[in-house]
Amino acid sequence: MPGAIYAEGLVKTFGDVRALDGVDLDVPEGTVLGLLGPNGAGKTTTVRVLTTLLQPDSGSAVVAGIDVLKRPNEVRRSIGLSGQFAAVDEYLTGRENLQMVGQLYQMSARDAKARAAALLERFNLADAADRPAKTYSGGMRRRLDLAAALVVSPPVMFMDEPTTGLDPRNRQALWEVIEELVDGGTTLLLTTQYLEEADRLAHDICVVDHGRVIARGTADQLKAQTGGERVEVVVHASEQISPAREVLAGFGKGEVAVAAHTRKLTVPVTGGAKLLAEVIRELDARGVEIDDIGLRRPTLDDVFISLTGHAADADADAYTEPEGEPETGADGAAQQKEAVK
Ligand SMILES: Nc1ncnc2c1ncn2[C@@H]1O[C@H](COP(=O)(O)OP(=O)(O)OP(=O)(O)O)[C@@H](O)[C@H]1O
Ligand SMILES: [Mg+2]
Repeated sequence: MPGAIYAEGLVKTFGDVRALDGVDLDVPEGTVLGLLGPNGAGKTTTVRVLTTLLQPDSGSAVVAGIDVLKRPNEVRRSIGLSGQFAAVDEYLTGRENLQMVGQLYQMSARDAKARAAALLERFNLADAADRPAKTYSGGMRRRLDLAAALVVSPPVMFMDEPTTGLDPRNRQALWEVIEELVDGGTTLLLTTQYLEEADRLAHDICVVDHGRVIARGTADQLKAQTGGERVEVVVHASEQISPAREVLAGFGKGEVAVAAHTRKLTVPVTGGAKLLAEVIRELDARGVEIDDIGLRRPTLDDVFISLTGHAADADADAYTEPEGEPETGADGAAQQKEAVK
């Protein structure tokens, strides 16, 4: 039986760009699927198709048992989507916004009020609850948007990078809310650039690249696939990346991955501490000064690097920091509006 979110052969092209090139998904009811992938991989496009905001060129999808292409209106009533900044009224206060959402979903005024208060507390918005949303900072807006998506707990939820731009405390708060939702039976598809987040929340992970699912499994399965130990070296200066790469290539059991901006090199190895000592001696002999070196077991970051050839965080930093998160949100809303038209 197909899961609460099911997709088969989704293809979507934008001019020459094949944003989705045959995406298949199957998310069992009550579980969390983490959709990972580098920038431009097709994550948001997948979410937009599954939430009826965008028509695929081909393929099919069923969400909460309803055909997405044939009965989009019914699908919309059965899902929650975060990232809909359009739903937040700038002139209403945070509290009024949340109460309004509750009433739209036919909650009694009393229930809507209680739910709004609980969510405001949860997302550390209680102090700002009675100020108009237009006075909120970027991070506060993002939290209000998330809270709005959580007023009712629909059976299936989609969250596109829900914690991008949130500080650690608020990220933690959102994780707790998500865990409660899922305990309550909600099925969730979430995209994220934070692999730690996927590791903690997702039962299953799909890694997408160039519009295709290139790997899937639990975090543990993907880590096991990626292999065993790795040596990770942070060199002191950029000029030393190249000699360090040569040294590591000599010891490695696979390709040396380089994150230039952090001067970090990673290579799969076998041989444990003894090998590590040899690597250190050889780096020293080549005059490479190291800031840090260690033997590590695979993390989801390693999985990501080995599958896509580059680090998730490196991409996230490069793309999200200059823009700041309020803009990311505004873009999302604009795109969604456009798609609804
Ligand atoms: N409306 C659009 N018009 C043209 N091209 C688009 C449009 N939406 C997406 N694309 C292209 O489709 C590809 C997939 O984009 P998508 O937004 O799904 O990536 P993503 O995985 O969400 O990336 P990110 O991590 O940066 O959010 C990209 O090459 C993007 O430029
Ligand atoms: Mg995206």
